[in-house]
Amino acid sequence: MSKLPIFNLEDYLSAREFSAPFMLGGSDSETHSLGQILDLADSESRKLWDELSLHYTEPYGMPLLLEEIAGLYGDDIEGANILSFAGAEEGIYCLCHALLEPTDHAIVVTPCYQSLESVPSSLCEVTEVGLDEVDGWELHNDRVIEAIKPTTKLLLINYPHNPTGAVITKTQQEQLVEIARTNDIWIFSDEVYRNLELEPSNRLPTMASIYEKGISLGVMSKSFGLPGLRVGWIAAQSRQLLSELSNVKHYLSICNSAPSEVLALIALRSQDKILARNLEIIQSNIALLDRFFSDQVDLFAWTRPKAGCIGFPKIMGHLNSDVFAEKLLNTKGVLVVPASVFNLRGNFFRIGFGRKNMPDALRMVRDFIEEEI
Ligand SMILES: Cc1ncc(COP(=O)(O)O)c(C=O)c1O
Repeated sequence: MSKLPIFNLEDYLSAREFSAPFMLGGSDSETHSLGQILDLADSESRKLWDELSLHYTEPYGMPLLLEEIAGLYGDDIEGANILSFAGAEEGIYCLCHALLEPTDHAIVVTPCYQSLESVPSSLCEVTEVGLDEVDGWELHNDRVIEAIKPTTKLLLINYPHNPTGAVITKTQQEQLVEIARTNDIWIFSDEVYRNLELEPSNRLPTMASIYEKGISLGVMSKSFGLPGLRVGWIAAQSRQLLSELSNVKHYLSICNSAPSEVLALIALRSQDKILARNLEIIQSNIALLDRFFSDQVDLFAWTRPKAGCIGFPKIMGHLNSDVFAEKLLNTKGVLVVPASVFNLRGNFFRIGFGRKNMPDALRMVRDFIEEEI
């Protein structure tokens, strides 16, 4: 087992995001205040909030919350098929530590949210299947097949994808399941952007609902825009696997924050309202981005995201994306995330368009281009 490397993305963001006037590199939807969430409470959850005592909570999560989360999945997933975590991050850590041993092999689709690659790599051999902008960041299943070894135990994927907003098709997803089934491989599917598809027809079935060795990762942070709750979960048909994960969780958070569980319950019971508002912001922002990039075709190449609230444009010409990001932040206070932070060569940078103030940030980018480029 090797030491975990510096987490480039979290390191980059934590040094900048709390002081940058315009966060255009964020990966979450517009958030809500505590008061706004409490206003959504039904009488049962309001009573839970008012009478909440701050004791330890149940290790798997509050049963009412687990039932509500299970409702996001198909019939094969009940409350007992859910294990909750302190964010999606803890779920990734626990899953890899419960499943992977030094003699195992894992396959991960890259670029990706760093822990999907760094945590398995600290535990066993990992093969990356790299996506390419040239073909619209499309995943080629034959490249996954080529990467399989006799020791392959786990495939890690993330759709809708961070940082490109790409999605695979349902047919591709079914083929991946068949490939995994034939080779007895678990699929860990990071689905934290699920429900933010720009076209509803791009919504994939959850991996936990279609594959007996499928593991779905969900969280309140992204589609619901409530990262401060730190409530995430893993759904799986295998309760044995969840029990092994819960043992790792005992070494970490042990249980959820009691107030966050109730707030997550309230938000999930109002999910239609919250998701509709978040999608409305995203649709309006992406229309502005489409216009912006079509005005700037000499400067940027824009592969339009299909889902989520992040995109990964490319800078054309000689301006380096690290330099672009640094100058943009220093002169206009706009934070974007250059490709190097994703360990990727190429002149890309990540932008987030889930937040209400994105149009203001975009205006600053326009000014920057006029004045500096
Ligand atoms: C794809 C993906 N998975 C997992 C996470 C971790 O989510 P959380 O911050 O809610 O733990 C992130 C955060 O950016 C992410 O983008």
